[in-house]
Amino acid sequence: MHKDLEKVLYTEEEIRETAKRLADQINEDYAGQEVVFVGLLKGSVQFMADLLKNIEIMCTVDFMCVSSYGNGTKSTGRVNIIKDLSEPIDDKNVIIVEDIIDSGNTLNFIKRYFSAKNANSVRICTLLNKPSRREVEIDVDYIGFDVPDEFVVGYGLDYCEYYRNLPYIGVLKPEIYA
Ligand code: IMP
Ligand code: MG
Repeated sequence: MHKDLEKVLYTEEEIRETAKRLADQINEDYAGQEVVFVGLLKGSVQFMADLLKNIEIMCTVDFMCVSSYGNGTKSTGRVNIIKDLSEPIDDKNVIIVEDIIDSGNTLNFIKRYFSAKNANSVRICTLLNKPSRREVEIDVDYIGFDVPDEFVVGYGLDYCEYYRNLPYIGVLKPEIYA
């Protein structure tokens, strides 16, 4: 598995420090308030775990699963709900936890979907951001790292469902998906 990677972008240690930095910021911004963290499956699982360990405000946790990618490396622009929220979010402060924002189509859809469900506020916390690939304008409130336009895997991120278990983030060798 490790041999399929061209290089390591962020080590386990760097990611852990970044998750702590983002959690500290959230603790400060939402002091005295309650938050629902909604992780997008499956890519956000490792990040959600590291983030939550550093969250000190009252919170609940939920997950949604949507798909926009199929098994390729390019967004299709269409978003399907595969698993919906399990609790209502009326009047709640929601923070969406995401692995990476690429075209922005997924988050754009989910943000509108949550607003339609009468959330009090909706913010986005993403570990990785690929601003060069944006197709729709979207406000991102908490960003771990801005990444170059390369296909990355590990720490929850997959290629054809593989590599999610890597504890670090790396660039996949192009010959793997060519
Ligand atoms: P968007 O809708 O184009 O912003 O895509 C968001 C989703 O695409 C993310 O949740 C990821 O699952 C997937 N994705 C985008 N870029 C990458 C990448 O470089 N590696 C792995 N998955 C990616
Ligand atoms: Mg994905």
